[in-house]
Amino acid sequence: MTKPDKLPLVVLISGSGSNLQAIIDQVAAGMPAEIRAVISNRPGVRGLERAQQAGIETRVLDHKAYPDRESYDLALAELVHEFQPELLVLAGFMRILSSEFIQRFRGRMLNIHPSLLPKYRGLHTHRRALAAGDNEHGASVHYVTEELDGGPLVLQARVAVEPEDDEERLAARVLRKEHIIFPMVIRWVAEGRLKVENGQVVKDGSVLEKTLTLMGNGTLEP
Ligand code: GRF
Repeated sequence: MTKPDKLPLVVLISGSGSNLQAIIDQVAAGMPAEIRAVISNRPGVRGLERAQQAGIETRVLDHKAYPDRESYDLALAELVHEFQPELLVLAGFMRILSSEFIQRFRGRMLNIHPSLLPKYRGLHTHRRALAAGDNEHGASVHYVTEELDGGPLVLQARVAVEPEDDEERLAARVLRKEHIIFPMVIRWVAEGRLKVENGQVVKDGSVLEKTLTLMGNGTLEP
């Protein structure tokens, strides 16, 4: 079977879908990828509207209709599989995935997380960064493994924490960075420049020894 010239994606969401929108915009701008479906675990969310407006197939798989994580994740895996994605994109998908699910899509799943991992895995990252008095915060794109927010890191972007920041203000600034770095990494995969091999990130043919950082001037630094 010949490989499709556009990387088939499925995007999982739970909410507003602003990261999804950034990916949609980059696909429209020529990223060699095709969003085959957007799947939400919550009905009625803004992200589903964004997908529909872009003419993308949407599905809702409500976790409330399933008795436990295993049965939900099995249904989700089957639904995702129908669309035959090469990359599964977690764009604000607010559920922990079972290890069975992760094994099935190992090496083919990217997540965006609103902190400078390994700092602040899990929820309320902005609140925690403020409470700790950090002077910088940011966002990370990483491959997904069984360890929550703990898989191999690819790219981060930093923001300075300002004295007048509250959770909302800081979150908004981090989100703007997410919208840049997430499509950037997906594009690398689509262009065949990025993969994960034996748990190591390989970019442009070399193992990435250090997580990349997107600097304010647009350059990448290890
Ligand atoms: C983002 O901050 C993402 O990092 C986090 O949830 C938020 C989702 O935002 N996991 P959106 O749905 O992409 O607007």
